[in-house]
Amino acid sequence: MHFQWYPGHMTKAKRQMQEDIKLIDVVIELVDARVPLSSKNPDIDELAKNKSRIILLNKYDLASQKYTEEWKKWFESKGYFVALVNSKSGSGVKAVHEVIQKACKEKIERDRKRGILNRPIRAMIVGIPNVGKSTFINSFAGKACAKTGNKPGVTKGKQWIKLNKNVELLDTPGILWPKFEDQTVGLRLAFIGSIKEEILNITELSMEFIKFMHSKYSGMLEKKYEIEKSEDSLETLQRIADRRGCKLKGNELDVNKAAGIILDDYRNGRIGRITLEFPEITETVLEDTKAIDEGKEIDQSK
Ligand code: G4P
Repeated sequence: MHFQWYPGHMTKAKRQMQEDIKLIDVVIELVDARVPLSSKNPDIDELAKNKSRIILLNKYDLASQKYTEEWKKWFESKGYFVALVNSKSGSGVKAVHEVIQKACKEKIERDRKRGILNRPIRAMIVGIPNVGKSTFINSFAGKACAKTGNKPGVTKGKQWIKLNKNVELLDTPGILWPKFEDQTVGLRLAFIGSIKEEILNITELSMEFIKFMHSKYSGMLEKKYEIEKSEDSLETLQRIADRRGCKLKGNELDVNKAAGIILDDYRNGRIGRITLEFPEITETVLEDTKAIDEGKEIDQSK
């Protein structure tokens, strides 16, 4: 049996988004460049259909350059306009203006043919929690944060930030939820720190991360923590605990503390630029998911 569990606040957020989207020309969706699909909302394609779409691969400073380029191409092949941004430093943020113009070229052309000149493009930022929406808006809008105020035909209370004479941005981002019923998605979001720590077992999470690193970024943990390689994730964790002097009373290793250190180092880019999911793998997974939906057998050899 398959059923959807939708808490009340999500239904409300979705309804709000449906209303807001009617007012805008272009949806600017922020995703985390380390997990571009896991940090994507599953409903946004339906909500934003018929709108120009931009994907911002945010936090690209924390993701592998090679894979981020691959993801850019992947999203472009799906019809999105794409930009790489580091909202924290501001790198790549200005270039988003150009991307907006490109994404809205048809609309501008249509307006011009109808004799409508200089109607600003209306944009909205959307994304799941913690992808960097507020940081991006602050960096993008900068000093232009002067609000344009309510306008006729616009839902009361909506505020628009006038970015320049061509673009207005809805000041409150649309917060959406991830595809959290998917275990892999949940795990990846936990690695990047987007799931509340209280509900997680840090040691287990860190061991999963070590396992992932051993299979995809072999040798990187060993180099960072200056430890001997072990195929076993618990042993690796113990070696890191030992190296970092994480001890409990009685000189016993404090693996829980070491687990916290590893995750914190990863989340802050101190282990390196590490992408957690890859376009080609994801495509296979997507095909499989589609096949499951259609009741087909999955080719396990892939
Ligand atoms: P949200 O509105 O989508 O929920 O996200 P928010 O802007 O609050 O950003 C969440 C965290 O991500 C913040 O860190 C923010 O600084 C960080 N962040 C946003 N964009 C980038 C980016 O491009 N690169 C990097 N490296 N980090 C980014 P925080 O730990 O909550 O706060 P702080 O470290 O800034 O104090």
